[in-house]
Amino acid sequence: MGCFSEKKRGEGRTDFFDKSWQRSSLCGDFGTAEAGSTVRANGWVRRRRDLGGIIFIELWDYTGSVQVVFGPEAGEVHERAGELRNEYCIAVKGTLRARPEGTENPALKTGSVEIVAEDFLLLSSAAPLPFEVGEGTDKVDENLRLTYRYLDLRRERMQRNLRIRSRMNAFTRAYLDGRGFMEVETPILTKATPEGARDYLVPSRVNPGTFYALPQSPQLFKQILMVSGCDRYYQIARCFRDEDLRADRQPEFTQVDIEMSYIVEDDVMELIEGYMKGLFKDILDVDIPTPFERMLYWDAMDRYGSDKPDLRISLELCDVAAVFAESSFEPFKTLLAKGGVVRGLALPGGAALSRKELSDLEDKAKKFGASGLAAFQLKDGALKGPLVKFLSEPEQDRLKELAGLKDGDALFLVADADRARACTILGVLRLDLGKTRGFIDERAWRFLWVTRFPLFEWSEEEKRWTAMHHPFTSPVLEELDLMETDPARASARAYDCVLNGNEVGGGSIRIHDPQVQARAFQCLGIAPEEAKRRFGFFLEALSYGTPPHGGIALGVDRLATLLCGGQSIREVMPFPKTQKAQCLLSKAPDIVEEARLEELRIRTVPLEEDV
Ligand code: AMO
Repeated sequence: MGCFSEKKRGEGRTDFFDKSWQRSSLCGDFGTAEAGSTVRANGWVRRRRDLGGIIFIELWDYTGSVQVVFGPEAGEVHERAGELRNEYCIAVKGTLRARPEGTENPALKTGSVEIVAEDFLLLSSAAPLPFEVGEGTDKVDENLRLTYRYLDLRRERMQRNLRIRSRMNAFTRAYLDGRGFMEVETPILTKATPEGARDYLVPSRVNPGTFYALPQSPQLFKQILMVSGCDRYYQIARCFRDEDLRADRQPEFTQVDIEMSYIVEDDVMELIEGYMKGLFKDILDVDIPTPFERMLYWDAMDRYGSDKPDLRISLELCDVAAVFAESSFEPFKTLLAKGGVVRGLALPGGAALSRKELSDLEDKAKKFGASGLAAFQLKDGALKGPLVKFLSEPEQDRLKELAGLKDGDALFLVADADRARACTILGVLRLDLGKTRGFIDERAWRFLWVTRFPLFEWSEEEKRWTAMHHPFTSPVLEELDLMETDPARASARAYDCVLNGNEVGGGSIRIHDPQVQARAFQCLGIAPEEAKRRFGFFLEALSYGTPPHGGIALGVDRLATLLCGGQSIREVMPFPKTQKAQCLLSKAPDIVEEARLEELRIRTVPLEEDV
């Protein structure tokens, strides 16, 4: 409060906030109904203007802002108001009046009234601001926003996002409580649960040399709760994963975690469809049609080149192997004979693409892992492109037919030994072209279930099969033996909930037979002794009369991002971390005192470049 002399501030008043200064309404709630009455308002100063000796400010709180006028007739109060700056926190007393005709501001909820100040109390001044809080700060560097997150969160949009999240949690609890679910908190200091990422480890002081793992998810505990007879569990659970960050990933994030006993896939799907329907109605007043479309994993890959297809985009992939299997274009023919694939993506209007645009697209495809991108263009009934000369007339007709090619369109082909890779490359191209060339319905909400994922995927890095979902997922029972005989073909009773190309949830029916669980570990190259060491407690729990069970976890941050219309998960998290997993506000992670490390019996080893 440096700019206010003690004398001025103290005269006849105290600078303590008491009941007599407490707001009579929130800033955004003042309206003409109260015009003429004495009011009090509390909040932050925004947009101070001095017009011909009259000082106007907007006083802001999370509900909006109200205009406050300090006229020269207010004398000393007017003089003091001249020293107010943006983001000073004040309490104001005055008379609410209808704004003089012609000065109303229809853009503001309270735009038809203003408070004529009679007195005000400075509650806190503000240091020079690192950025303007009252304006849209989209142009402000994100690192600066994260460093001064408390100011950033004072912005209207961030307040709105936090409130949407809070409402989501309230809705979640009401929905699940109303359906017989019990909220249970599972431990944060625990043992590793494999979800495909690295664990964050916490050293134990009282058990030197040992570590807790922060949970990647409450997976094992929620299954154990089913053994315990909890029947229907949920938790708004914090999860921790030490993985490379992307726009839709954070090292700590929140799930609505759910588990149910005596159920099959349909039960989980119906529960979540009802949840999403209610949530979207509650938050956005949007009616989501249910049930959601369902698609097998391989259909999603073949048609959209993704296991989380964005169905708002109308473009679809096609299989053109039939054209090239017998054609004179040897590279494709040989590849197909060896079990490879040739897949295509047709682009309506693509015949107009220039040679440069085509070559840019090929570069893009190569960046996504393609060895090349064969382009065709259908102009005035004639098929053009470097491969046309290898195709007979009937083969060209067949190609057009398979791709649904019309005059004026283009077709892009990717050939690859691996079906999933060929599809994925075209899938990324589909997203890119769909978004940049307007084949997307931006206003639509397209939910989808993707089911029957492969049980395992081959890890080149580890040279072993790894669980595509997690190792507790039940194989499709009729195909149980494929686990050992043909792991690549074994499929899982897993399902992902996809919204507009985002995986917003994933779950499965679990293995509830300890013998099958032991077999699954074996297939994953986890030796019985290792399985016993890591998951012995869990395998043992399964052996005490486990009901069939399954569940799902919804990604709260991703769902919130979509509901808030944001681009990044960081916009809906109060205190997110950067790409380098740092909290710029608190400066975590941080070094700790030697004595603490000593106590934990930990020694850090400097990296060569640090020495
Ligand atoms: P899964 O690993 O698929 O399943 O996670 C469930 C959902 O959590 C969200 N999610 C994330 N959100 C932000 N940042 C991350 N790093 C991140 N990782 C995942 C996604 C995802 O769909 N235990 C199982 C669930 C189960 O089988 O019931 C699990 O955790 O939206």
